[in-house]
Amino acid sequence: MIRTHTCGQLRAAEIDQTVTLCGWVLNYRDQGGIIFIDLRDRDGLTQLVFDREVCGAEAHDLAGHARSEWVLQVTGVVKSRGERKNPKLATGEIEIFAKSLIVLNRAETPPFEIGEHSRVGEEARLKYRFLDLRRPAMQRNLIIRHRVLKTVRDYCDHHRFVEIETPTLCKYTPGGARNFLVPSRMHPGSFYALAESPQLFKQLLMVGGYDRYLQVARCYRDEDLRNDRQPEFTQIDLEMSFIDMDDIMGIGEGMAREVWRTILGIELPAPFRRMTWTEAMLTYGSDKPDLRYGMPIIELSDWAVTSGFSVFQRSIESKGVVRALNAKRSSDVLSRRTLDSLTEFAKGLGAKGLAWIKILGDPSKAESWQGPAAKNITEAARSDLARRLEVGEGDVLFFGADSNKMVCSVLGALRVELGTKLLNLARGDDWQFLWVHSAPLYEWSEESQTWGANHHPFTAPYAEHIPLLGSDPGKVLSKSYDMVLNGNEIGGGSIRIHDSATQERVFQALGIDHEEAQRKFGFLLHALSYGAPPHGGMAFGLDRLIMLITQSESIRDVIAFPKTQRGRDEMLDCPTPVTDRQLKELHLVSAAAKPTAAQGG
Ligand code: AMO
Ligand code: AMP
Repeated sequence: MIRTHTCGQLRAAEIDQTVTLCGWVLNYRDQGGIIFIDLRDRDGLTQLVFDREVCGAEAHDLAGHARSEWVLQVTGVVKSRGERKNPKLATGEIEIFAKSLIVLNRAETPPFEIGEHSRVGEEARLKYRFLDLRRPAMQRNLIIRHRVLKTVRDYCDHHRFVEIETPTLCKYTPGGARNFLVPSRMHPGSFYALAESPQLFKQLLMVGGYDRYLQVARCYRDEDLRNDRQPEFTQIDLEMSFIDMDDIMGIGEGMAREVWRTILGIELPAPFRRMTWTEAMLTYGSDKPDLRYGMPIIELSDWAVTSGFSVFQRSIESKGVVRALNAKRSSDVLSRRTLDSLTEFAKGLGAKGLAWIKILGDPSKAESWQGPAAKNITEAARSDLARRLEVGEGDVLFFGADSNKMVCSVLGALRVELGTKLLNLARGDDWQFLWVHSAPLYEWSEESQTWGANHHPFTAPYAEHIPLLGSDPGKVLSKSYDMVLNGNEIGGGSIRIHDSATQERVFQALGIDHEEAQRKFGFLLHALSYGAPPHGGMAFGLDRLIMLITQSESIRDVIAFPKTQRGRDEMLDCPTPVTDRQLKELHLVSAAAKPTAAQGG
């Protein structure tokens, strides 16, 4: 052993002991010939003191040359800091009077400081990730990630889940996220797809009789990236047999409760709130509402008809809706300029405009109502509105008049912009969990003019809606549930279809006929016809979960080696082109390569 303790371990109880520590130089200073070095490792910091009288000239000289991030091994005696103790530091009561020093390794001058508070650009952090990983904040996040996984595995073990690995090289299946493809050398012209989730395998494991399955599963999706998305991410993936929605929701929220208890010492309420998808969309304009603040969206379509404001009336005439939300006591914060930029924000989302009214005084007086919509509405409409929106002095009202879908999307996004940014109503440590369940089975795509699966095409419809599959697919609701935390979808799942006839009917409504279903999903239909048990499950996004628990701004702060927003690894400098020889071996031609004159253009 080349050390006796870590840099976070020593306390007053060890005073007068001789110890050996190893670690990295965080900082160093020379105070009148006495050299102080803060030595850092994963566990913490310890102050080293090099006094020529104690350590001798050689170690003292060596210490004088040590620089940031050098790796040292130090042997010395633990001494009390007495009056100079640092209550902010776990080892703050003591320091080590060094007797000997070995430099285990030197370091180039780091491109940024490793200290907790250094503000470093993300590009540099990712390029020098091995240094960035030394920062206490990164180490805390990754250690919490480890502890969450351990808690999850213990919880699942206790509840009889079996951890089973499934392939990540699998078959391309249409309809979900865009897949990464992997060319097969041995099968010219054929490709594997990287698994976007273990969905079908876990269902097959239920057919295989495993009853309860768990996997910490790596998933791959070739999508546009954001702060809460990576092309390669981890799911805590669960599946259970002989259960209903309440069972799996109970397991899912029990797991969340166990994680919050173990990691944060917080007892979450039981059961979590539940809301149907329809209610969430109508009231919050979102299928993942942030419940840390109120600001519900209020239906005003009937009011709009007689409101006197032509913009609203026209919207109703063309089968649209009118809804509004009240940003209470916000008129001071929402200046004219901010309101103009919010109007642009709404237009950016596709709205034709964003009518607003500011209440600058007693709401019973007409002159208190100001803004582009105020002057147009009748007196009766105004007092009716005051009642419906519980209007008070200082409130700002926002209106959306358009199709249901557009109004949901605009007022929903506006609500989040107001709540989390402009009015600052959302605290990071206010944990508002919610289940959003029973989403429509299908979603209409304007772009392709077809129905697509809202979750995935293996989700079970409510039995009473099955007759609508052929006639009115938009009305079919599914046995699905998403776990939402503070406006983020942290997990989701469903009860699955467990008979092949229903599965085929659901495929049909998606435009997948019998032949195509057999070709693409034959293995599943086949398996369902050999005694598939009723089953269902869910998957948590581990990275998102850790991002929220650690109150990190980005998913990249909780992944050891993440990709940038553009899907690149700055440290490895990848993706990279490959040689013609490699392409040939894989039976590929690069579209990026310029065609030669002989090949034509
Ligand atoms: P879904 O596609 O909803 O469901 O994924 C489950 C959870 O995974 C997280 N997630 C992501 N995290 C980071 N980067 C991404 N690109 C990304 N995409 C998704 C989200 C999401 O809630 N097989 C189903 C689950 C099931 O039905 O059991 C599935 O994959 O937090
Ligand atoms: P206009 O009559 O087009 O000048 O619009 C009057 C006000 O209503 C402006 O503040 C617009 O931003 C707003 N507005 C226009 N169309 C809509 C709409 N579809 N929904 C909400 N507000 C709108």
